[in-house]
Amino acid sequence: MRSAIENRVSRRKFEKEPITGWEKENIISLINQLNEASGLTMAFMEDGGGAFGKLRKSYGLFTNVRSIILMKGKKDDKDLKEKIGYYREDLVLAITDLGLGTCWVGGTFDKDELPIDSDEKLACVVAVGKVSAPSLTEKMVRSATHRKVKSIEERIISTQPLPQWVQNGMKAVLFAPSAKNTQKVMFKYENNTLSAQIVDDYSMDLINLGIAKKHFEIGAKGKFEFRNGGIFHLK
Ligand SMILES: Cc1cc2nc3c(=O)[nH]c(=O)nc-3n(C[C@H](O)[C@H](O)[C@H](O)COP(=O)(O)O)c2cc1C
Repeated sequence: MRSAIENRVSRRKFEKEPITGWEKENIISLINQLNEASGLTMAFMEDGGGAFGKLRKSYGLFTNVRSIILMKGKKDDKDLKEKIGYYREDLVLAITDLGLGTCWVGGTFDKDELPIDSDEKLACVVAVGKVSAPSLTEKMVRSATHRKVKSIEERIISTQPLPQWVQNGMKAVLFAPSAKNTQKVMFKYENNTLSAQIVDDYSMDLINLGIAKKHFEIGAKGKFEFRNGGIFHLK
């Protein structure tokens, strides 16, 4: 399995030292590539700490947030939330490979403080920064938000034995982050067809669906259709 999948955990306490110019260039170049591929308009803010203070209702205790990535796209994109989850996970795994820490932050935003066009929607932000060993507070927040990881059997409904590729995909899904750690995305394997769906009753649910699909793709090697209930196609 890709090591960043196993290594990534949400980090909420960052070092005061800003990320380097080289790290920043890497992140911006990746954002540009992913925007091109997806039609999203994600944007890096080197000193987004001020805007971060405007975030309300987000849970977790954050320290020394400086750089953030705005996760946004066009309001009329029908797959917007799912794409944000899907492409953000690409971004976060690459940032994990750079040795930096990340955390998704949901909540509401004061749009006046952030560069968001009137035809765009900001779904969440990602805090990015240098990290050292997890602090006690971080460990406490993590144990409060991080319930037991569900098993593969709890995440997939199937009428037939699971082939190896489905098992590989599901193993990667178990590492997928989800808002409030609900791990709600469910997979179905019936008539040799695999699909993924979520009961969409919380604003972050379709984002969680995109994240889980991305993890499955990395584990099983193939491509999902966007939409709730979308089908997976093996490469
Ligand atoms: C869409 C989304 C929104 C999130 N929003 C917040 C947030 O506002 N505050 C926070 O502390 N963590 C937030 N998280 C992080 C989750 O709590 C975390 O991913 C989950 O508990 C699993 O832990 P892990 O990321 O360490 O594996 C969010 C995660 C996702 C996927």
